[in-house]
Amino acid sequence: MLKSKQVGFLGSGNMGEALIVGLLHGHLCRPEQILCSDVRSERLKAIREQYGVRTTSHNPEVVKQSDIVVLAVKPQIMKQVIEEVAKHFDLTKLIISIAAGVPLDAIESCARKELKLIRVMPNICVSVREGVSAIAGGKHASKEDLMMAKAIFDSVGKSILIEEYLLDAVTGLSGSGPAYIFLIIDALADAGVKVGLSRTDSLVLASQTVLGAAKMLIETGEHPGKLKDMVTSPGGTAIAGLHTLEQGGVRTTLINAVEVATERAKYLGEMMKNNLVNER
Ligand SMILES: NC(=O)c1ccc[n+]([C@@H]2O[C@H](COP(=O)([O-])OP(=O)(O)OC[C@H]3O[C@@H](n4cnc5c(N)ncnc54)[C@H](OP(=O)(O)O)[C@@H]3O)[C@@H](O)[C@H]2O)c1
Repeated sequence: MLKSKQVGFLGSGNMGEALIVGLLHGHLCRPEQILCSDVRSERLKAIREQYGVRTTSHNPEVVKQSDIVVLAVKPQIMKQVIEEVAKHFDLTKLIISIAAGVPLDAIESCARKELKLIRVMPNICVSVREGVSAIAGGKHASKEDLMMAKAIFDSVGKSILIEEYLLDAVTGLSGSGPAYIFLIIDALADAGVKVGLSRTDSLVLASQTVLGAAKMLIETGEHPGKLKDMVTSPGGTAIAGLHTLEQGGVRTTLINAVEVATERAKYLGEMMKNNLVNER
């Protein structure tokens, strides 16, 4: 699907590198099809040497030479970068933004032209190719463009297609979700230490339990409630633990956390939009 495409990255940090690894590992691209830029020359040197991709410190060059451009700089830098490269954007190029909270219409306003845009909200787990990404197409993005974006983000985990207005909710759930799970694993490891296990053993037990439970859910396709019932025997240990979790309001707390993070994403998105659109 991407065999005849040139793929460019504006920004080659954590996310840019993760996507480069996915593209190469998934054999979606050969190294010579990828051109990436960054402000840090040592970063570009490292990426060039490790993956054999082409690099440049000149952002406009990336846009000029690419069919697909991934905007992978921090949201605060987006305005500066879009203004730097906008004159080379046109409707033949697919532009994929992964900048958290930056709406598609703000990118077009900043570029002062109509663009073929896709906005994606990935999460940090793309760095171990187990990320999950939500993909929203702009008005000029075709089905084929969306399929290309899906192929790119499936190479670093899984992806879903979604309407743009739902991306704040995605940010609250899966975008911020790794932080929730790290906290849960840390808390479970504390619990292991409390009941006499070493910290090292506790962390192995807690993290592999989370991984295994998620894998079981995904592979069986069963409802989580059914799997919970399967491991809960009458008068047993799991139901005693579950009772305590419910007393502590774990379900309500998680719902509240996702809700408040979604609201925060909405608020930050508005700020970002004002920054891109108003401050010229
Ligand atoms: N990390 C996540 O979990 C996550 C999740 C979802 C979405 N995102 C989005 O992904 C995007 C990239 O995040 P990241 O974590 O990969 O950030 P990052 O590691 O900071 O990568 C951005 C790279 O761009 C470089 N850069 C700065 N100014 C530039 C410019 N003018 N031209 C070209 N490159 C420039 C940065 O260099 P310096 O470090 O020297 O500034 C850095 O190497 C962000 O918009 C973020 O919102 C990230």
